[in-house]
Amino acid sequence: MRSVTDLASLARFILSPDCQSIVILTGAGVSVASGIPDFRSPGGMYDTLRPELITATEQQRKLMTMDPTYVVEKNMFLQNSFPYLEVRRPFILGVRDRIWKPTIAHHFASLLHSKTDKLTRVYTQNIDGLTNAVGLPDGKIVSVHGTLDKAGCESCGEDMDFDAFCSEVEAKIRDIYHPEKGPQESTPIKCPSCGKATVKPKTVLFGSSLPAEFFDKASQDLPTTDLLIVAGTSLVVSPANSLAYNVPTNTLRVIVNNEPVGKELGIDHSPDAKRDFFARGDCDEVFLDLIGELGWIAELKELEDN
Ligand code: OAD
Repeated sequence: MRSVTDLASLARFILSPDCQSIVILTGAGVSVASGIPDFRSPGGMYDTLRPELITATEQQRKLMTMDPTYVVEKNMFLQNSFPYLEVRRPFILGVRDRIWKPTIAHHFASLLHSKTDKLTRVYTQNIDGLTNAVGLPDGKIVSVHGTLDKAGCESCGEDMDFDAFCSEVEAKIRDIYHPEKGPQESTPIKCPSCGKATVKPKTVLFGSSLPAEFFDKASQDLPTTDLLIVAGTSLVVSPANSLAYNVPTNTLRVIVNNEPVGKELGIDHSPDAKRDFFARGDCDEVFLDLIGELGWIAELKELEDN
């Protein structure tokens, strides 16, 4: 019988000698409390996508209506960079202006590292940079889908200064969410190196491969992982979701989410599940309770005040 059945027993397991290596996989849900919508929930980026507002051909709009992930798909971007840039404009400028702050879920990773030294890695699918804003050493974080705070050309691979790129976005890309702000029409942002209109933040598009670091670190980390915490992700995007089924069968998997996820990957949400524990709820509430069980509330307050 599995010994972790609630947050109190999870805290005991984390602090016990049986638990030496902890891996965290996060998704957009851990940043929702900071004000960034996720992708697939009602009100999320795909749910609220309005292809008719995007500068695109009828055929491209049809594709985005059929499947909103086309807005972040490689062939679409190479043909027409406006769908990605128009949809991402507020996010790009918000990251530049640092308007979003880390959540309790982000601080949890930092506390786990400083208080136990058992945090092996955080694999984040998020591109908002908040995982990097809580003082974890860089080597502890794998940005599975890249990062929004660096820019480069998807055609020639040359980097572009992020601030210069943001100024171009502000001046040249229409704000489809607040059409009264910024330019009325989008005009191409050209790569200073190759001249093509294919500069974007260094995020991974659907149809591109993940950074080699993801595969290298995963093959290194997973065999010895005692606890995998999966937080705020629908687990529908591969290969990021492979972490959930590539851990050994004796790894405890804890799912923190407001809905059951990963059933098709073999995650068991039932109260008597053998290897899984489903901590259902809002990410920040669950992590706050867990931090309470671990006795780290004072340290959390310090982090939040800094
Ligand atoms: P999703 O939007 O697919 O999933 C977010 C999950 O978090 C859902 O299961 C929500 O129910 C849950 N959730 C949202 N807010 C929450 C909260 N406050 N507390 C608890 N749970 C909450 O986002 P991801 O799984 O991150 O990739 O999406 C994966 C990838 O799909 C993204 O990295 C992105 C996207 O297309 C690319 O663009 C390549």
